[in-house]
Amino acid sequence: MTPRLPLTRQATRPLSHRYTTTTNTLAQSRRTMTGLLVKPEVTAEISGQANVDKFQAISRDFRSDTMTMPSDGMMLAAIKASRGDSVYEEDPDTAALEARIAKMTGKEDCLFAVSGTLTNQLAIRTHLKQPPHSVIVDWRAHVHKMEAGAIAMFSQGTTHQLVPSNGLHLTANDIKPHLVLGDNIHTAPTKLICLENTLSGIVFPQDEVVKIGELCRENDIALHLDGARIWNVGAKVVEERGLDPNSEANRTAVFTELLQPFDTASLCLSKGIGAPIGSALVGPKDFIKRAKWFRKAFGGGIRQAGFMTVSADYALTHHFPRLASTHALARRLADGLQGLGCEILAPVDTNMVFFNADRLGVPFEAIKARMEALPNPISIMFERLVIHHQITPAAVEDFIAVIRELRDEVRAGRGDEVAAEAEKLDGEQLEVEKSEGKLRKQAALGY
Ligand SMILES: Cc1ncc(COP(=O)(O)O)c(C=O)c1O
Repeated sequence: MTPRLPLTRQATRPLSHRYTTTTNTLAQSRRTMTGLLVKPEVTAEISGQANVDKFQAISRDFRSDTMTMPSDGMMLAAIKASRGDSVYEEDPDTAALEARIAKMTGKEDCLFAVSGTLTNQLAIRTHLKQPPHSVIVDWRAHVHKMEAGAIAMFSQGTTHQLVPSNGLHLTANDIKPHLVLGDNIHTAPTKLICLENTLSGIVFPQDEVVKIGELCRENDIALHLDGARIWNVGAKVVEERGLDPNSEANRTAVFTELLQPFDTASLCLSKGIGAPIGSALVGPKDFIKRAKWFRKAFGGGIRQAGFMTVSADYALTHHFPRLASTHALARRLADGLQGLGCEILAPVDTNMVFFNADRLGVPFEAIKARMEALPNPISIMFERLVIHHQITPAAVEDFIAVIRELRDEVRAGRGDEVAAEAEKLDGEQLEVEKSEGKLRKQAALGY
């Protein structure tokens, strides 16, 4: 069973007035379960006060799990990084990270690049050799919807976008009828299938991944994983099996199993585990060699990459073990919101919560405005809330408390005042965010 995080004192105190809420959440978050003070992750002595203030802000930022900050520990590790040229393959720390991730995922080789978009598109470009060819994707897939049309741009491929029959993830049965096989000159044969795990924080069941892998092998089709958040999947498996997340052997066993059906996978380092930059592409040796060629052609070679790869290595060692806590916090947030009457729109398998407060009569804009008006503001973008490893339990409790406060105001007949509060937001900016939010919600959930 997922352990519950302890509620902070803030959590049990009623939210008496919006302007008297959380003033000391960071200090609270520094206390362990035994009440001992632990060393803060970002200190004024090492990082400067502006970064301490920023750290406090991001500990209450639910927009994305990219909203993390390098800790003092990470920056101190980075300062000692090797400083060779990684394009010339003369940077030991970059080679070490690549070797570590290749081994951990049970693949022959690994390539570090600056972003998940780049590692996905390098993989797709390397898989698709000569048009005409096509790629099968979930219609919500990041590689198709959110990477600037790069499949067409760089790989001359067309995509077949499928809607999962179960509303959550594709199945082999969904895919089978859409495979384009043979040599009919009117068609673009399926050469690649791309899956995404997690998608909207939802874990792709491994038995279905295995079936899709078998289908690919039977038809000589490559299978690529957009594993931007595969660390979250691994952390969940490690937790469910009662394994120690600090053990490299355990991580290796779990990620090797998760990635076994895939020819190649892209693993973002700047999302769940909170590195400041980077993504890893893993696959066969020859494949990675050729992908490196394309990385050069795309202008993605990095000279002195050591400080980046050491940061990512630090994140893997020190932040991966925290992911189970971010999942528990997401669960707590979802339970709290559901308890107040909000709808939870997607399964909360890992670190994302999609919610809707319409049933409470509280418009999203009013929620956003109220969160931003707190003395220690909470940042949200739309109805997708993402818990990252530096979000504090107090921030989650404050979030729930704000929704409770708004609900109670509406119940007390002050609905008009609540609705009017949204107008405090800059109208034009909100319109943009709303339409972006709608688009992303559709991308994520298919409605
Ligand atoms: C599922 C998924 N894949 C790939 C990416 C691309 O990662 P990056 O922003 O590093 O290009 C993202 C980014 O949000 C993502 O959510």
